[in-house]
This record gives sequence, C-alpha cells and structure tokens, in this order.
Amino acid sequence: MNHSLNQQIMNEAFFDKKDYKSLDRVDGRLKVTGAARYSAEYQLSGLVYAVLVESKIAKGTIKSIDSKAAERAPGVLAVISHVNAIKVPGYQTSNQHPSEPPVNGQPLRAFYDNNVYYNGQPVAVVVASTLEKAQYGASLVKIQYEKEQHKTDFDANMESAVLPAQAKKNPKSPVADYSRGDKNAFANAPVKIDAEYVLPTEVHNPMELQAITAHWEAEDKLTVYDKVQGTQPTQKQFAKEWNLPPENVKVIATFVGGAFGNGLHNWPHETAAIIAAKQVKKPVKLVLTREQMFTMVGYRPYTWQKIQMGATKDGKLVAINHESVGQTSSYEEFTESTLQQTRMMYASPNINTRYRILKLDVSTPIWMRGPGEATGAFALESAMDEMAFSLNIDPIEFRLMNYTDSDPDKQLPWSTKYLKECYDAGKEKIGWEKRKMQPGSVRSGEWLVGYGMGTGTFGANRGVAAVRAELDAEGNLLMQCAITDIGPGTGTAMVQIASNTTGIATDKITFQLGNSQFPKAGNQGGSSTVNSVGPAVQAACNALKEQLKTMIASNGGSQAAFASAKTDDILFVNGQIQIAGSDSAKVDIGTLFKQNNIRKIETTQESKPDENRNKYSMYAFSMHFAEVHVHSLTGQIRVKKVVCCADAGTIISPKTAANQMIGGATGGIGMALMESAIIDHRFGRYVTKDFAEYHVPVHADVPHVEVFFVNKPDTLADPVGSKGLGEIAIIGVAPAIANAIFNATGKRIRELPITPDKLI
Ligand code: MOS
Repeated sequence: MNHSLNQQIMNEAFFDKKDYKSLDRVDGRLKVTGAARYSAEYQLSGLVYAVLVESKIAKGTIKSIDSKAAERAPGVLAVISHVNAIKVPGYQTSNQHPSEPPVNGQPLRAFYDNNVYYNGQPVAVVVASTLEKAQYGASLVKIQYEKEQHKTDFDANMESAVLPAQAKKNPKSPVADYSRGDKNAFANAPVKIDAEYVLPTEVHNPMELQAITAHWEAEDKLTVYDKVQGTQPTQKQFAKEWNLPPENVKVIATFVGGAFGNGLHNWPHETAAIIAAKQVKKPVKLVLTREQMFTMVGYRPYTWQKIQMGATKDGKLVAINHESVGQTSSYEEFTESTLQQTRMMYASPNINTRYRILKLDVSTPIWMRGPGEATGAFALESAMDEMAFSLNIDPIEFRLMNYTDSDPDKQLPWSTKYLKECYDAGKEKIGWEKRKMQPGSVRSGEWLVGYGMGTGTFGANRGVAAVRAELDAEGNLLMQCAITDIGPGTGTAMVQIASNTTGIATDKITFQLGNSQFPKAGNQGGSSTVNSVGPAVQAACNALKEQLKTMIASNGGSQAAFASAKTDDILFVNGQIQIAGSDSAKVDIGTLFKQNNIRKIETTQESKPDENRNKYSMYAFSMHFAEVHVHSLTGQIRVKKVVCCADAGTIISPKTAANQMIGGATGGIGMALMESAIIDHRFGRYVTKDFAEYHVPVHADVPHVEVFFVNKPDTLADPVGSKGLGEIAIIGVAPAIANAIFNATGKRIRELPITPDKLI
C-alpha cells in the first residue's frame, strides 16, 4: 500500500517535485508500535473507572433513581446522577440569566436536572475500582421515569421545521434565506428539474472511541487527557464550566485515533468524568462504548433537500432554488452550510436558498467530514447530472458551460480556482471516453457499467495560530503548537514546512502538538490546519533566521554579508548556516552559539489572516470520478475505480495528503452505499448501534483510488499557499457514485444510501 502510494505520487506529472517530497509520517513508528498514547492510555496513580447509565425513554423526566444495589456492589465508589452530583459552577451561571439564553440553545448539561431529552442520554455515572466493576454497578441502577410523548420521526414532523434563531436575529447569517436575481426565474425556465433528496443520519465511527481521563491535580487545577479536536477550545470550555482561570486547566490530546467533527464540541460524558473525578477525589477514566458513540458525540443530521433547477435548451443555467431541512435536538440548534456551494459554484443569475431546522427528541448533531457541504453536494451535483441528462449534454461539458471565473455570491475574484485542471485530469484517468450518454449501454457480462462525477468545494478558512521554535547548538529544531492531529499527519506537514523554510533535514526537526499549554491554536477542523499553523511555522523559522543573521553580522569580518542577506536565502545545511548562492559565507551553528555564550535560541510567532480575506473569495475545489458496476439481476453495487483530483493549493505532504483523499473517497463510498442510522420511532431509539447493523466500507468495498493534485500555490490565501484538503476529499464523492449508478442502470436514486433493493 505505502509503496504503491509513493510510486503513484512520484509518477504524477502534475506534482512539482522540487518543492515538497513525500515523507513518511513522523509519528508512524510510535503509532504502529503502540508507543503513541491516546486519551484512555494514561495510567495515572489511583486511576478509577467510570461507566455511564443511559436513559431508556426519549422524552420525559426521571421520577426516581434507585442506586442502593449499585452502591453496595464490590468496588463501586460512587453512583452519581442529578440527585447527588456536585454543582458545575458554569451551569449555575447560565441558569442565572434565563432572560438571555444563548441564541442557539445550549449543550446538554450533565446531571443538571431530571429532564430527559433523548433516548440514550447519560443520566448517571458509576465509578468503581475496575472497568468491570463499574459496568456491573451500572447494570444495577434502577430508574423510574415519567414518560412524555416524543417526536423522533423526521418525515412525520417535517412541517414543524423552523428558521434557525441565529438567522432570525441576523438576516445576514449564512443560514438565513438567500436570493439573487429574479426570485421567480424557475417558473419560466425552458428546461426544468424538480426533485427531492434525502440523506439519513450518519454516525461518527472513528477507530478510537471517545475517551477522557480526568484528573483534579488540586482543588482548582484540572488536567484532562481528552479525545478532542482542539486543546485550547476545550480548555476554555472547561475553565468556563468550572469557573477557573484557563491556565488552571490543562488539556492533552497528543494522539487522536481519527476524528471527523465529533471532537469539535464538548459533550456531557466529558463533564460527567470531571464531576466524578471531583467527587471521588481520584483520577477517572471514561471511555464510551461503540453503542454510545451513536448518541453521545453528534452525527451528520438527517437532511431533506429539494432542488428546482432551470436551464436554457443550450445548457445555460437560469435558476436554482435549493431548500434544505436538517435535524437538530430540542435543546440546541445545530446548523451547517448545506446550501453555501449552491450560491457560488455555478453561474446561474437567479438563485434562492432556504435553510430550516427540525427540532426532534434526539441528541444534538455535529459536523461530520465535509459537513453540510457534503450533504448539499449530494443534491446539487445529482441535480446537475439530471439536468445534463435532460439536455443531452455531457455532464462535464454542462459544468464547463456554467463555470464561474469569479464568485457570484460574494462578488469577488477567486484567490485561485483550478477546477478545469481537475476535470481534465480526472476525465483522462477514469477513462471518461468509455462513458455513453444512454444508461445501460455499457456492459461487462451480467454487470451494467456506469461512470459518474461530482464536484466539491470548501472555504479556505485560515485562522490564527502561533508556533514556538527553538534551535539548539547541534542544529536540532523543536517546535510547539497547541493544535491537534486527528489523523491527517499534521506533525509531518509542519516538519516539512520547517525543513523547506530552513533547509534543516526533516529528521532533525520535531513538532510537538496536542497540549493546551503550547502556543495558540484553534480546533483541527474545517480544513484549516495547514493554512493556519503552517504560516506560523514559517514565521517562527524566519524569526530564528533573523536572530542568527543579527548575531553573525555583529561579528563583522567576512561574515558581514549576512547583514544584507535575504531571510529566504539563509539556509541551514549540515549544522552550517549559509547564504544560498554564496560559497564563502558559512558559519557553524555550534561555534556561533559558543562564541555568543548561548546554548539555544528561541522565538514564538503568531500568524493570522490578512486583508486579502476581504478582497478575494477563497475556496478549495475537488473533482471526483467513479466507475461503478451494478449487477443486472441482483442490484449488487461494486465501485470499481475512483479518481479524485484536488485544487487545494500547495500540497505540503504528498503522502499524507493522498492518504486524506483516499480516506475521503472511502467516507464518500460509505455515504453513498452504506451508512444509515435508523431509529425505531415507537421508542425513539436507534436500532443500528453497532457495525453489524450500521455498515461502513471495509477494504473489499474500496477499489483503487487514484489521487491527483493540481498543486499550484494560493499565496493570497496564506503564505504557504495551501487551501485545505480534509473536507474536499469527501465532498462530491457520494453524488459521483449516485450519478455513475444512474449511468449504469437508468435509476435515479435520490435517497441515500443506495442499496441493492432500490435498484431491482
Ligand atoms: Mo471536520 S467536520 O471540520 O472535523
């Protein structure tokens, strides 16, 4: 796998080899040998174990909790619920201002009162000396409920959908109603598509279960080893909850075993573990079960969409009306950008979008890779395919006919857009010339063969980040940043940026992350790490060079050339500081430090977005092609080949970037063909809470995925030229597969997942 991946990248002509080369993951060895420590692997002295008890009803109140048997069970230290939980000071604060509730509602508060908002809600936690004793204790807790009528059925309740509160408050909110051009243009369009699309609830199932080890090191000092996507956002949240100065809360997430948005929010199980640790006065470990992952850490919400698309007979879009209703909980309004790309992707003069949410008695959803954009792209890119077929125009041609050279939504030029290059590369690699317009025309024995495509886009969202860099006399470079690495290989990419900036060999560079005490970083989310932290790495490396330059130049003599050397031209080669293009100016780092009587130099540099943000529209783009075979008798679906091409700006780490694209394609195959969490509405309870019932792609389901990058820098977006990759890896994959299935069978399936029963 690694070998072929490397080869594939090395053979790729697009790739500018002089810039960044493929590097194995810097933490790969730690991960495969088990030396990497995850949140549930910190063996603190006195560690005890917590197991959650979940509600068995979807709505109502808890009448009574009988915890006597559990408390008497061997090894049980405490049974904690709303009856006896210590008060979380931040919870009390928010309750003191009922006249100003947060506009989007608020996260579920652990053990706050006796209300039950969904089936599977954590209502008690049992703490014991071992995991098994805690599990047994939890099985003995008896709860009596006062049941109320619940609503979990999306279809049955869709007419109760509402405009999100943030849009009511602010008509400019991205989830407010949007209109450009003629509102009624669809009615008069010569060719029309009018269709509804449904995406079921999809659940976060990363390899590592959500886990926290909570440790009160003192009465007012909290350390958590927590599976989160942001150490400092989590630090801020817990500092607020426990009314502590942020510096008293330490959040460690050195390794994260896969996260796709589930760690972008803090959840009740985390506070439950912190409460428990405080009450039993010992460090507490709490690991969710796979079943609990379905109800406790968010999910991609069930979403209904409707698209009305109008075009002229010669293929010019004249109208798109796109409506969406997404599910949320009764206590917290979750919204996402399902409709954003419809406003900017194609050159239709007339566009209306309308976003609504439906509050049900379920847990709060959260972003799940590509988030709303991936959901929206299923509808938009399916509709584009339907329209192209109606017009008898090749789907790529149709997209090119409606290509935009500037952003019609923000009315700004793109910083960069190389989507045409993606179309060209993908078309050739998938063998698009074999595709026939008429469905069912290409066969391979009993199998119907189809080709499909889908476009993806996601905002290049650079944020603020800071990096500390330290160079020692041996020429080792150490860097630190609070950012997490949920899997993309952040450390690897940052080492490559530092090596590229300084000339220092990658094996002499260390990038430490995942600790709230390191310099500033937000969440690893929204494809924003390389373009936020990368520039801070660059800035820190350049600041070190400036320090060295001054130090060298002040020695005078033959080294005076350093005073006027450009920062970019200063390089570190084999422990020597050099000026590019000059043979004479060379200084040994060790000698220089000795002369100046220092052992190391250090700096911390912050980097943030500049005014280009207001002058350009910044998006990454992707194109996904699929060849799909459908068995003509059984409806069995085989994805035979996937080709992905991304315009993500500069590709810093070709190997891990290709990994991300393959992972995104895999997620897209799951979305298109398998994933669906189903509630039994009689009980308001999920019936698909394991991998036997909730299917994700396995190796046999995923064909060879060919990955290509345009790899042209976008230096308007940020100094490293990267636009982000994580989301566009999945956005557009599901419609590419759905469109290929239509091309194979003539069946247009608008409700995911596309299972064989829908095709026969
Ligand atoms: Mo991603 S949905 O920003 O983890």
